[in-house]
Amino acid sequence: MTAAPPELRPLGQRELRRAFGAFPTGVTALAALGDDGTPVGLAASSFTSVSLDPPLVSVCVAHTSTTWPLLRDRARLGVSVLGAHQAEACRRLAARGGNRFAGLDWTATTDGAVLIDGASARFDCSVERLVRAGDHDIVLLRVHELDADHAIAPLVFHASRFHRLATPDNPTETPT
Ligand SMILES: Cc1cc2nc3c(=O)[nH]c(=O)nc-3n(C[C@H](O)[C@H](O)[C@H](O)COP(=O)(O)O)c2cc1C
Repeated sequence: MTAAPPELRPLGQRELRRAFGAFPTGVTALAALGDDGTPVGLAASSFTSVSLDPPLVSVCVAHTSTTWPLLRDRARLGVSVLGAHQAEACRRLAARGGNRFAGLDWTATTDGAVLIDGASARFDCSVERLVRAGDHDIVLLRVHELDADHAIAPLVFHASRFHRLATPDNPTETPT
């Protein structure tokens, strides 16, 4: 233990974003078919595994999201853990304008969950519960079906940048 107190910063939006960004995450695509049969979705790095029994995961969605109201009442939502090769797709899935699914290969389940082809893991989910939490909703999702391929390296998001994991085959971590 040191005698001097830690030099912590006062709380502010910028400092909070910066500190939250120190925690590395993967990135998921949260997506479903809209009423017109076209895919609707957004990128979300707030994905967390929650429970094995029952099988639950969560994402946090900002109240400012214009896409979430189109997703929240769908029977099923797809959650795809994006691969390291999908950084550009991730940028598009978060973009304000344009077709977010342009150039992206995806598959819809019969119940309308949209899953991204070539993702590291894919979950077919339904909304279990919503919890209001500050300026976000915590969305608790029940997993119905899934697949995962550990051979597909995940996309990593840290400090506002995309990265890929260093592996014995690829020892240098490289921003994507
Ligand atoms: C890497 C990355 C991670 C993101 N994670 C989240 C998230 O966890 N929750 C969220 O509400 N928005 C997140 N976003 C923002 C959304 O993808 C999207 O840009 C935002 O919802 C605005 O679009 P919308 O109005 O169509 O919803 C993230 C964006 C990026 C690029």
